[in-house]
Amino acid sequence: MSNYTDPSFKQNMKLRMNFNNMMAQFVGAKGITEEEIAAITDKIEAAEKAMIEKRARGEMFWRELPYIQEEVIEDILAYAAEMKDQVENFVVLGIGGSALGPIATQQALNHPFYNELPREKRGGWPRFYVADNVDPERLVYLFDICDPAKTLFNVVSKSGGTSETMSQFMIIKELLEEKLGKEETCKHIVCTTDAVKGNLRPICEQEGYKSFIIPNGVGGRFSELCPVGLLPMAMTGLDVREILAGAAYMDELCQNEDTFKNPGYMYAILSYIAMQQGKNIQVMMPYADSLKFMSDWFAQLWAESLGKQFDNDGKVVNVGQTPVKALGVTDQHSQVQLYAEGPYDKMIVFLGVDKFRQEITIPKIYGEIPSLGFLGGATHTQLLQTEQMATEYALMKAGKMNMTITLPEVNAFTLGELMYFFEIATAFAGELLNINAFDQPGVEGGKNATYAMFGRPGYEEKKAELDARPAQDPRFII
Ligand code: PA5
Repeated sequence: MSNYTDPSFKQNMKLRMNFNNMMAQFVGAKGITEEEIAAITDKIEAAEKAMIEKRARGEMFWRELPYIQEEVIEDILAYAAEMKDQVENFVVLGIGGSALGPIATQQALNHPFYNELPREKRGGWPRFYVADNVDPERLVYLFDICDPAKTLFNVVSKSGGTSETMSQFMIIKELLEEKLGKEETCKHIVCTTDAVKGNLRPICEQEGYKSFIIPNGVGGRFSELCPVGLLPMAMTGLDVREILAGAAYMDELCQNEDTFKNPGYMYAILSYIAMQQGKNIQVMMPYADSLKFMSDWFAQLWAESLGKQFDNDGKVVNVGQTPVKALGVTDQHSQVQLYAEGPYDKMIVFLGVDKFRQEITIPKIYGEIPSLGFLGGATHTQLLQTEQMATEYALMKAGKMNMTITLPEVNAFTLGELMYFFEIATAFAGELLNINAFDQPGVEGGKNATYAMFGRPGYEEKKAELDARPAQDPRFII
C-alpha cells in the first residue's frame, strides 16, 4: 500500500488554515466578526446547495478528476515511459490555464534547478520548459538550448483556437517537418485538447499525433488535475496518483456541512466578507520558494473566475478581488511596508511550510558582534518561519487582515490538497457573489480585436469598429 492511501499519512499531511487574524477579535474593527458570518447564513446555505446541485448535474466536472482517471493515468504513464529515453527536452506550448498549473507544480515538486541537473539526477527524465508567451525572443532563444529534433512538444489547448498556442504549434510543426520529415515529426508532438471540439482534435487525427483529452466541464484554470497537468508531471518523474489522492482528500474535507470546519467554504466566506468591506485586493505570499508560482496559478484562478461585470441575474455588479503576488521573506524587503501601513484595502494570505526538504544551519561565528552573533546555530527554517510569524503578528497589530495556510510538507499529496482547496474556494466564492465563475467574457474583447486586426474571416464588423476608433491625441503622448 502506497503511503498516501494510509489514513495516518493523510492526517499528518492535512493542510491547516488559520484565520484568527482575519477576525475582529484579533485585528480589531477592520476585521470580520462572527456576527457578520452569521448574517449571511442564508447566502451560505444557498451557495452550499448550488455546489451540490451543480456537481450532481456534472457542471463542475473538475471535481470528479481525482476519481475517474485510472485509464487515463495508465495511458499517460505508458506514454511517458515510452518517450522518456527518446527526447532530451519536454516543452509545454500553452497559455493561461494550460500553462500556469504545470509551471507551479514543477516548481513545487521538482528540484529548483531541475533543468541544470545532469540527466541521471533527474531520474533520466527530460528537461522541462513552458513557452507561454509569443514574445519572439523567448521561442528563438529556447531553440538555442533545445534542439527541436531532441524535444517533445506538448501542445495544450482546450479550445484549439488560442492564437498564441496555435501560432507556436504552427512554427514548430513546420520547423520539425523541414528538419525531420512528416513521419518523424509525429513522434515529437503530443496534444492535450478537447475530445471533439476545436481545431486541434481534427489536426491530431489528420497528422497522427498522440493526444490526451481535456474532459467536458473542465475549464482551463480548473484543469491542472487532468492530462493538462498530469502529462507534464509524468514526463518529469512526478507521482500523478499522489496529487490526485491529495485532491480527493481535500474533496472529503470540503464536504463538511459545518462551514467552520470546511476550509474551502470558509476561505470563500472570509474573502467574500472582506470584499464587502472594500478589501478588493488579495495578496498571496508563500514563505517557500517551491510555492512561488502557486501565486501565479492562483492569481489566474481567482481573477478570471471572480472578476465579473454582471451577476447571474444580469445586473451590473463589477465584482472581483485583485490578486497580488508576493514571496516571503523576499518581499518583506519590498511590499510588506505597504501592507502594514498602507490602506485597509487588502487581505493577505500566507502559505507556510512546516518541514522543508532541506536544512542548513548558520555557523556560530561572529559571536563578538551581537547584531550577527545571535543568528549562529539557528537554521534557515527557523529564521524563515520566525520571520513569517513576526510578519503575521506585525500585520495583526496594524489591524491588517491576514490568514495562513500551512502545508506540513511540500509533496504531491499536499499540492493536490492545496490546488483542489483553492478551486473549491473559488467556485464557492462565485456562488456567494452570484456570478458565473467558469466563464471569461472579459477576455473575449481583446481576443476579438486581435482577430479583427489580423483579418480573420468573420470579424469584419469588429475591424470596421476598430478602424473607426478615435484618433490618438498627440498631447497625451510625451
Ligand atoms: O482558464 C481559462 O479558460 C483560460 O485561461 C484558458 O486556459 C486560456 O485562455 C487558454 O485556452 P485554451 O486552453 O483554450 O488554449
